[in-house]
Amino acid sequence: MMVLLTVAGALTLASAADSFSPAKPKLATRDDEPIRRWRANRFGLFIHWGLYAVAGGEWRGKEIPSAAEWLQSSGKIPAAEYASLARQFNPTHYDPAAWARMAREMGVRYVTITTKHHEGFCLWDSEFTDFDIVATPHGRDLLGPLVKALTAEGVDVHFYYSILDWHHPDYRSAILTDDDRLAYDRYFEFMKNQLRELLTRYPQVRALWFDGQWDSSYCENPEYARRLEEFLREIKPGIIMNNRIGAGLIGNIDHDATGRPFGDYNAGFERLLPHAGSVPLYDWEAGMTLPENQWGYRKVWSGHVKTAPELARMLIQCASQGGNFMVNFGPKPDGTFRDEEQAVARGLGQWMKQNSEAICGTRGSTLGKPRWGFVTERVAKEGSRTLYLHVLSKPAGKEIRLPLTLAQVRNCRLLSAPNRPWPFRADGEQRVVIGLPDKLDPIATVIAVELNQ
Ligand code: GLC
Repeated sequence: MMVLLTVAGALTLASAADSFSPAKPKLATRDDEPIRRWRANRFGLFIHWGLYAVAGGEWRGKEIPSAAEWLQSSGKIPAAEYASLARQFNPTHYDPAAWARMAREMGVRYVTITTKHHEGFCLWDSEFTDFDIVATPHGRDLLGPLVKALTAEGVDVHFYYSILDWHHPDYRSAILTDDDRLAYDRYFEFMKNQLRELLTRYPQVRALWFDGQWDSSYCENPEYARRLEEFLREIKPGIIMNNRIGAGLIGNIDHDATGRPFGDYNAGFERLLPHAGSVPLYDWEAGMTLPENQWGYRKVWSGHVKTAPELARMLIQCASQGGNFMVNFGPKPDGTFRDEEQAVARGLGQWMKQNSEAICGTRGSTLGKPRWGFVTERVAKEGSRTLYLHVLSKPAGKEIRLPLTLAQVRNCRLLSAPNRPWPFRADGEQRVVIGLPDKLDPIATVIAVELNQ
């Protein structure tokens, strides 16, 4: 059943100023405690780590174009040959406590790590395959220590799992014969076993992030998706799943023939954000790479590499549209993060340290998109409401005009100087005017506007 969440509505604002248009109500597939927590987290770190990190986008001294984690496929490397990378995977500098500290200091509330990407290699010691971390010089579980360290830092754990598998002998990209069907059924059991293993061995995991659902074997046979979803909800009631568990294309939440959606939210915003000011219909999450299209580690990056301010502004935009935002890092094979990623973690962390109140636990703006930036809002349990004005650029006149009456505003404060009140005044009956500091934060200056009920 779909629940209609009236995100818009309750605000009794005076007539909208020219730069605002009110947001539309949003649909949700569920509205229980786990999804509320998922929503409130807002900001996550995606981590792509696997054997592709060893190769770093090169094979036998040659650069293979395309995404680094796609190396096996784009380099047309036979599975057995590719698998030999396992003998070189030895992350001697892997320090899960340092990863978890970095995540917390960066301001993320959850980490989504690839337990198994399309290459089929598993970062944990799986009972159901030998193609896992035990076959490497490292020789022991990578996931468990990370799950523990993240949990100790108060960061939620989400697991990525690829349905597509280039290594497993029973995997089929298409089911053309009876033998294919039997093989795929065996693969499906393998997948279920591995997911049960992950959910029971690491009970802290709160969400599963599926990918690689586009091969016809899976997406033309939607009963697999539905069976998998039901199986997982039975093992772990409350688990959150992205819509890529579904049998359709990415980009929209997918429904079965009866109109029931797959998964809990739309993870179709891959390296893109929804049109500024629009509100996607369902809960949603965007994932963003630093360079153009590289999720796993690639030695040489080309083209534009996004900076902390750019990514922070994307995070703000997502929050203002009621969505989550994940920045992606691809750790090096030795277990450390490249300089660009460390710089991004520091830059985002600095801004989040002062401003996370305006991101985490907020919802999308019911005021729409003003020209000078974005708005998020927080509704406290007792019903009081705070608007967060994320000012990215100074409007003409150098003041913010809000479609509120003076009586509606209890107080204002700058999140960068929270201990003193920030002045505001009325301009006629229907406008509150708020001045800006001389110098804006290079990412966004945030003004909290607490409203009277
Ligand atoms: C794509 C890619 C994959 C990456 C994912 C992240 O579907 O196949 O390499 O993990 O997107 O969104």
